[in-house]
Amino acid sequence: MRIVPDFISEAEEKQLHEEIEPYMSRLRYEFDHWDDAIHGFRETERKKWYPKNRELLERVREVAFNGAIMPYVHILDLAADGVIKPHVDSVRYCGNTISGISLLSDSVMRLVRIDPQKYQQNGSSDSAEDTAYRQQPAALLENNFYADLLLPRRSLYIMSHTARYNFTHEILANEHSKFLGNPVPKTRRISIICRNEP
Ligand code: OGA
Ligand code: MN
Repeated sequence: MRIVPDFISEAEEKQLHEEIEPYMSRLRYEFDHWDDAIHGFRETERKKWYPKNRELLERVREVAFNGAIMPYVHILDLAADGVIKPHVDSVRYCGNTISGISLLSDSVMRLVRIDPQKYQQNGSSDSAEDTAYRQQPAALLENNFYADLLLPRRSLYIMSHTARYNFTHEILANEHSKFLGNPVPKTRRISIICRNEP
């Protein structure tokens, strides 16, 4: 797991936000199902970008993916009171690396090691959990390895290999958002997420 602070400048953050906002602001935040991994979010995918933003995504491709990245970029808009619960992105839909640029707010991402004995993603069954885009294995803190990571606004994180497969990831809700004992207020946060092919 790597975090690159100030991966983008304030001007680049503004320019990304300006491209996303007209579409995003027309969607409604979803708070629906108790079993969903994410609450209080709206999302979209984008393939074509304004040249300035395309340049910036090229930097992500080079830094995080050695050139091999999926063409669609996932944009997730998490409301101030939204939360991303512990999950692992399904190995069916996503390869060994996930990267994210954070816009508008700092946040805290928690990684919790999963029990590989109890949890195995296998492609043999078609149960709902198996085909879900985000899988939710138990993420217990007791007697376990976990890490809270500060994701500053405008940073890039690169989650790959063991961090991506053997740990759940989550974004703490505002009331639990703390880093080294200090509150990290989480307001509305937009993440620009890139992945590679499985
Ligand atoms: C996801 C996810 C993290 C983020 O969409 O699966 O984990 O940075 N997002 O928004
Ligand atoms: Mn995820």
